[in-house]
Amino acid sequence: MDKIAFGMTFFTLFFSILPSDRDFLCTFASNSTFTHTPMIKIKDKQFEPFIHHEQIAERVAALADKLNADYKGKNPILIAILNGAFIFAADLVRRLNFDHEIQFAKFSSYEGMDTTGKVQELIGLSIDIKNRDVIIVEDIIDTGTTMFNLLPKLKEHGVKSVEIAVLLMKPGKLKVPLDVKYCAMTIPNEFIVGYGLDYDGIGRNYKSIYVVKED
Ligand code: IMP
Ligand code: MG
Repeated sequence: MDKIAFGMTFFTLFFSILPSDRDFLCTFASNSTFTHTPMIKIKDKQFEPFIHHEQIAERVAALADKLNADYKGKNPILIAILNGAFIFAADLVRRLNFDHEIQFAKFSSYEGMDTTGKVQELIGLSIDIKNRDVIIVEDIIDTGTTMFNLLPKLKEHGVKSVEIAVLLMKPGKLKVPLDVKYCAMTIPNEFIVGYGLDYDGIGRNYKSIYVVKED
């Protein structure tokens, strides 16, 4: 290997182990069970306190700061995915200080004829997103399949740019390669409710996030 090739290899390796700015935000949610907060019961399951609403607010504020720095003067469209993202989106936009529009969209799932079985269409977008900067606002990324399928559909509309802003990620469950630029917190592979997230339709109203208690 000549000197230049060696230098290039060293340079690439060195920078690939540094955290990229894409990893900057996503911090592990501290699993401090806060006191004075009782467990909750939803249908057949018990949930215990997991992420206090003050910690959520801090992380949402940090994410908003990053968006404020990156989107100054750009007027993007935020697409919040219903139902789960409605509370996160409401808190997030009130911390944004650049002009933007917000749309709420929903997936309609139906069984299709393709090999994967499930087809998802995004419905409810009533605005032309061609040549626009788009930020998808999502509550949680689990396997990543939902976002993975959505991104090419948005790109088909000829968007100028598209990024994902997500409250929570379960990196241990991720099954597809996904480039998530804005992520507030990571959590282990556990099922949670509260702050917009539901168990069988219930539990979206809780201010804090609760984790299922396995029996
Ligand atoms: P994915 O396609 O596997 O990434 O799933 C993402 C969707 O699954 C989210 O938008 C949520 O609606 C739902 N989801 C994933 N994990 C949880 C959870 O822990 N609690 C509630 N909903 C969840
Ligand atoms: Mg969702």
